[in-house]
Amino acid sequence: MSILVSDVSKRYGAQPALSQVSFSIRKGEIVGFLGPNGAGKSTMMKIITGYLPPASGQVSVCGFDIATDGLASRRKIGYLPEHNPLYTDMYVREYLAFIAELYGLNRVRQRVEEMIDTVGLTQEAHKKIEELSKGYRQRVGLAQAMIHDPEVLILDEPTSGLDPNQLAEIRDLIVRIGQEKTVMLSTHIMQEVEAICSRTIIINKGQVVADRPTTELRTFGAGDSYELNVEFSGPVNQAQLLQLTGVLHVRATGTHGWTIEVSNAHDIRPELGRLAAERSLNILALARSEHRLEAVFKELTNSRQNPARG
Ligand SMILES: Nc1ncnc2c1ncn2[C@@H]1O[C@H](COP(=O)(O)OP(=O)(O)OP(=O)(O)O)[C@@H](O)[C@H]1O
Ligand SMILES: [Mg+2]
Repeated sequence: MSILVSDVSKRYGAQPALSQVSFSIRKGEIVGFLGPNGAGKSTMMKIITGYLPPASGQVSVCGFDIATDGLASRRKIGYLPEHNPLYTDMYVREYLAFIAELYGLNRVRQRVEEMIDTVGLTQEAHKKIEELSKGYRQRVGLAQAMIHDPEVLILDEPTSGLDPNQLAEIRDLIVRIGQEKTVMLSTHIMQEVEAICSRTIIINKGQVVADRPTTELRTFGAGDSYELNVEFSGPVNQAQLLQLTGVLHVRATGTHGWTIEVSNAHDIRPELGRLAAERSLNILALARSEHRLEAVFKELTNSRQNPARG
């Protein structure tokens, strides 16, 4: 097991931040750690990385207990903290060499160049960190996290505030890194975990409310149905859509578009194809509604605030 967290609790003064949190992450997994603001994500990551002691509970990383084997466990971990604090008046190479020396690495120069190459910093590596855009600072953060070749990477909101191009590149980079390492990353974005994480842990108010393979998330917690958005090239009768097996509800969206709620047990896509063919129409678009993911997230992270739902 790469990361083992059992029964961890933490409070700041009177305020509980984590309550008996347990989970484990196997070697080679990319796990998404999802939750609303203040849920306890950063607190949990600081505890795993040894920056903050838990009030109770145990954490081990690659078999080393963080309380009794702190030094050994830290060597196994690379950490990109929230807000990515960097020495901004240092040059990129200077900073990475400084970190490499802190770890006591040999062949510092060579290692720095390897990291610059890995994270795609070559074009910007001659600059001071303060001169870099946010996406490139994030790459410096990833490079410093990986410079000692740790087995486990803990990344606290690695893609926050990036433009769509940088976002895609950093996600690709994390997926590439994840082929060799165990990765735990936090995010607020359900679509992000869907794009890159094999498993998702959702935390709310300091407690784990879901821990499952990401592919199962869509059908979790919020009912037994899903939504499909379909757009035909011409008019279709609402009654015909309602007749398809498994269809629970239909609503018109746009000119020839429909949002169809379907029971989980049914896949109506072949029947939609037949319906279109019968009417000599084409299907211009067909996709699951992304709102479904948002609904799952809301359901899991709002229920405890709503006494009506217990
Ligand atoms: N140093 C601190 N002193 C007091 N309270 C703190 C401190 N750090 C965190 N907290 C509180 O602990 C709770 C969890 O905070 P944490 O930063 O772990 O949440 P988070 O899930 O990372 O949130 P975000 O998505 O906003 O980054 C919050 O209620 C926060 O106010
Ligand atoms: Mg945080």
